[in-house]
Amino acid sequence: TDKYYTETYRPQFHFTPESNWMNDPNGMVYFEGEYHLFYQYHPYDTIWGPMHWGHAVSKDLIHWEHLPIALSPDENGAIFSGSAVVDWNDSTGFFNGGSGLVAIFTHADQYSNSERPRQRQSLAYSNDKGRTWNMYKGNPILSDISITDFRDPKVFWHENTKMWVMILAAGNHVRIYTSHDLKTWNFASEFGSDTGSQAGVWECPDLFELPVDGKNENKKWVMIVSIGNDAAYAEGSRTQYFIGDFDGSTFTNENSKETVHWLDFGRDNYAGVTWSDVPAEDGRRLFIGWMSNWKYANETPTKVWRSAMTLPRELNLVTTIDGVRISQTPITELETLRKENTKFENILINENVANVLSNIKGKAFELRAEFELETASVFGFKVRMSNDEKTIIGYNVTEKKLFIDRQNSGETSFNPFFACKHEAILEPKNNRIKMQIFVDWSSVEVFANNGELVMTDLIFPDCNSQGLELFAVDGNVHLTSLDFYDLKSCWCK
Ligand code: FRU
Repeated sequence: TDKYYTETYRPQFHFTPESNWMNDPNGMVYFEGEYHLFYQYHPYDTIWGPMHWGHAVSKDLIHWEHLPIALSPDENGAIFSGSAVVDWNDSTGFFNGGSGLVAIFTHADQYSNSERPRQRQSLAYSNDKGRTWNMYKGNPILSDISITDFRDPKVFWHENTKMWVMILAAGNHVRIYTSHDLKTWNFASEFGSDTGSQAGVWECPDLFELPVDGKNENKKWVMIVSIGNDAAYAEGSRTQYFIGDFDGSTFTNENSKETVHWLDFGRDNYAGVTWSDVPAEDGRRLFIGWMSNWKYANETPTKVWRSAMTLPRELNLVTTIDGVRISQTPITELETLRKENTKFENILINENVANVLSNIKGKAFELRAEFELETASVFGFKVRMSNDEKTIIGYNVTEKKLFIDRQNSGETSFNPFFACKHEAILEPKNNRIKMQIFVDWSSVEVFANNGELVMTDLIFPDCNSQGLELFAVDGNVHLTSLDFYDLKSCWCK
């Protein structure tokens, strides 16, 4: 039966739990025709609490079926973030010579009398496509090493060394372990204590290889590391990445240790990691993040549920004028949500042009636009507009900066850090700027210049704020093309 979600602010084409609190995506794995998405879940309240793994499956990463809770707290503690893999050759012995799913996650002490709550790594396995799970009797499989923050294992199979590899967050760095059977782990190396951003505790790492500019003869390894909320840091939770090499035990960063690469220049893309076991014939590196920020995650103005995931994205490595960077593009499956298309071409936008989009209204839609720079100093879109509210997505030509301004985007009073404008350098290409924008009932995602720069932001506009406007300041900008697509809800068939 079809399920429609119509509560105020409820995302129409982003994953949300039916009710209650969600944070990080966990255990993403593809197995027997299904993408699994587990997530940090508190089933009894809309604020963070004793963590469980919620669960959903999808055939296309767009339409999700909610399943019962997969993992619940036990005598070893609450179930923090982690990953899942297909154990194809029964290296664990859990599957009687067959194959099945193994989850590798952090057991976090909940009711510890010890001064320092322990975080230890554990296993659970499923023989029935993730529908039911057994806790491994030998848990925990990797005990803490007197580091309080010791969590979020991401496991993958390393083909060259024929070993399982685990990357784990450990305070201000990551640690790498290797194993033959997923049960016994040997320390291999550590990385990062003097590197990158240290503006918060390191969390939710990932490590994988990608071709540069699509060329398989030139591959590099990418490490993703999320950085927790530090009170001193206005941006709150963010995700950084490193590019380099990995030989099965050691990661070598090819940039200087001062270099910081941000995955997203918005405020609401955190703790994201990638899917395991995506079939080779697909070959994409698929990513999803938690669309919130620990600065205000517990206070956002929703009632029945709290938090959504970002859109699923494909990650690639591309050569830019600054060097090799991650590009993020929304998965092409999203095109199946498009309703009618309204097209515009060759329009000069300036202060004298009456709003060319005045006939368009929208709460959940996609925009694909290309602008050729002329005399205007700033241009862009105002979305989710009314007399009192607007979210501005713009480009400052003089400063070469893309920005989102959510200061008057709607409800912002729940936390002083929420109302803000942020920006990031974006070089025009052939004097042009491209924007692909997804607007939902409580978010905007901007993929600029084919995903070379991405900004993901929550917004909480009134449901009647549905206006859309193009603007240009101090002169002209040439809109070479614009496609507007109303989008269907992913919860209807
Ligand atoms: C990241 C995080 C993880 C931890 C989980 C607890 O948002 O802090 O490091 O495992 O959330 O819910």
